[in-house]
Amino acid sequence: MAKHLLLRDLDIPNIREIEVYQANDGYAAWHKAVTTMKGEDVLGIVKDAGLRGRGGAGFPAGLKWSFIPKDVFPKYVVVNGDESEPGTFKDHQLIRGNPHQVIEGTALCAFAIGSNLAYIYLRGEFSEPGKALEKALDEAYAKGMLGKNLFGTNYSLDIRVHYGAGAYICGEESALLESLEGRIGQPRLKPPFPATNGLYNKPTVINNVETLANVPLIVHNGAAWYKAMGTEKSTGVKLFSVSGHVKNPGNYELELGKFSIQDLLDMAGGSSTGRPIKAVLPAGSSSPIIPAANFGAKLDYESMGTIGSVLGSCSFIFMDDSVNMVWAARKMIRFFKHESCGKCTPCREGTNWALKLYNKMLSGEGGKADIDLIADVNKQIIGKCFCPLGEFATSSMTFTLKHFKQDYIDFVEKKMGGSPEFLAELARDAHATHGGH
Ligand SMILES: Cc1cc2nc3c(=O)[nH]c(=O)nc-3n(C[C@H](O)[C@H](O)[C@H](O)COP(=O)(O)O)c2cc1C
Ligand code: SF4
Repeated sequence: MAKHLLLRDLDIPNIREIEVYQANDGYAAWHKAVTTMKGEDVLGIVKDAGLRGRGGAGFPAGLKWSFIPKDVFPKYVVVNGDESEPGTFKDHQLIRGNPHQVIEGTALCAFAIGSNLAYIYLRGEFSEPGKALEKALDEAYAKGMLGKNLFGTNYSLDIRVHYGAGAYICGEESALLESLEGRIGQPRLKPPFPATNGLYNKPTVINNVETLANVPLIVHNGAAWYKAMGTEKSTGVKLFSVSGHVKNPGNYELELGKFSIQDLLDMAGGSSTGRPIKAVLPAGSSSPIIPAANFGAKLDYESMGTIGSVLGSCSFIFMDDSVNMVWAARKMIRFFKHESCGKCTPCREGTNWALKLYNKMLSGEGGKADIDLIADVNKQIIGKCFCPLGEFATSSMTFTLKHFKQDYIDFVEKKMGGSPEFLAELARDAHATHGGH
């Protein structure tokens, strides 16, 4: 794509500054909305555009906004900038490189649902992009884009930034709300959903940073313009964070449904090691792994489903054939064991037992029976957890076993465990776990 719609920092130098942003149609949709439109008009355009949430589940944004009750006040917008999924770094670039588009999208969402206060929740480690965002917010206030009685109307809006404390679970919307309210970040029971009982128990829209960055363009150019991109059910453009064994890792902005996984790999320069690519994790560690045989699948929500995976947060981690899947699955399960919030037993204990099994295999003490045991531990987690993190944790085991069982068999039959490299890794991890967490 010649011109980016979201990653405009790649085409327009200094778009992070408000003057440059405004000189490129920035805040035009915002001015038009507040001075000439009703909230429901904005909502109608976003709904009609078919914009789906970019945080993972792909839920239609306009439909979500329409669940907000009209007669309950106050109501809130919360922007999810937790971006904790391994391999995901798209929101980081948006916040740092094109922050006004995120602010304008947030503002339009607030106007659409009749909210006067929005929070942008950033992961604690985002101090540098956070500074860019805070500077942009100061500029927006100074230019009269935010604050009281905007453009001489009776509509007022404040946007505040809040930093998390670095827990993966705080990307889950209800845990995020707990964290924002000052409590331990653990998921809430749903229903009720945030649309009716969200922040401070009031109606709340929670959207991902990238979702909202699309909104100014949609309101400015119209729903038909946006729908002309992508497919019928996956409209518009999407950011893909590409990493792993590729020559050119980075964020790629593509029309949904027009390119395949192989195209994305080619755009990223192909294998960086010269070895064949064996598989990709399309949504970091929480997604079903995709073997290279399925790289013909198109990059949209529906096509990824047909190959038994998901588009999720679109963090494509490519792995060459030197990667052993027992080793890779252990890395992921170690992550989930650490990030499990501990609220429910199947996830807290299940990830702990699973890690013990993988450690046993890496240390060279594993046998074939342990492969079956891994599948058994999985069964104790699937469908029994309080929130999706537990399910995510099982993906790494279920799908590496499904697609690469031979890796597991080779691992025990060829006695690959117990190598100095693996023993050093286990020692390092044990040290980090005791000393660092
Ligand atoms: C364990 C877990 C972690 C999540 N992490 C994130 C995240 O880092 N960023 C995000 O936008 N959504 C994340 N989500 C999804 C959110 O719960 C929520 O669905 C999303 O923010 C809604 O925004 P959207 O509709 O614009 O996609 C996570 C979900 C789960 C279960
Ligand atoms: S599934 Fe895991 S992260 Fe989710 S509530 Fe249970 S313990 Fe916490």
